[in-house]
Amino acid sequence: MGAWTLDDIPWERFDRARLDPEIVRIVKAASLVEQNGAAYARHLCLVFAGDPEFQATARRWGEEEVQHGQALARWAALADPSFDFASAFGRFQAGYQVDFDTGSSRRGSRAGEMVARCIVEIGTSSYYSALRDAAEEPVLKDICRHIAADELRHYRLFYKNLDRYLSRERIGRLGRLRIALGRVAESEDDELAYAYYAANEHERPYDRRRYSGEYASRAFALYRPRHVERGIAMLLKAAGFTPNGRLGIVASRLAWRAMQYRTARLRRLAA
Ligand SMILES: [Fe+2]
Ligand SMILES: [Fe+2]
Repeated sequence: MGAWTLDDIPWERFDRARLDPEIVRIVKAASLVEQNGAAYARHLCLVFAGDPEFQATARRWGEEEVQHGQALARWAALADPSFDFASAFGRFQAGYQVDFDTGSSRRGSRAGEMVARCIVEIGTSSYYSALRDAAEEPVLKDICRHIAADELRHYRLFYKNLDRYLSRERIGRLGRLRIALGRVAESEDDELAYAYYAANEHERPYDRRRYSGEYASRAFALYRPRHVERGIAMLLKAAGFTPNGRLGIVASRLAWRAMQYRTARLRRLAA
């Protein structure tokens, strides 16, 4: 487990007057996605058969992700007492199915799997940093501070193992960049959209485009340029490029503009 537990969270400081209902909706969705960490840890143990040291790391990692889910779910139930995490997670599992019980990585190699894991941790570390900075409710702020620190540590952990596997499996920078960008593009797939739906809107039929937009318009609104710059630097590092050079500056500006454009478009569609 990580360096904190649910007992370290100052639940008694919960302040209903400082709640933002839009943030409550995305926190519920995040709690479901984090809870799936246990299933992904099982998948990593299959992919990394014969590497007991990494398997132990993956199991610990999975426990930490589940703890993120539990902390967010407990906060969401304080914010909205009608939130029933167990039922919402049941709906999420029933509607969003991934074959976690396969021993082959979708990324084609073990090093490729590590690149994809780095990208996911970049996404979560920047997301919880943005949420920590945007949230006014003090308990959520504290939870996000703990989670963002864990996600950054997870990135470093997968990066260290990426380095180890790159000495055996040679994937060039462009190959790594392709996997990295492919994984970024997948963040638009069903996982977050379905989690948002299962947590908030389960009485209507699922509509991927609609719920993907509902989730993303709320999540993207939290980001500031510094969160994007940091994420881009980490992505370039995982792909083998200099993180803080000219490429980083240009890529950060492009990513920030793309995010602004997409947020404005989602808002127009929702209006
Ligand atoms: Fe997490
Ligand atoms: Fe993580």
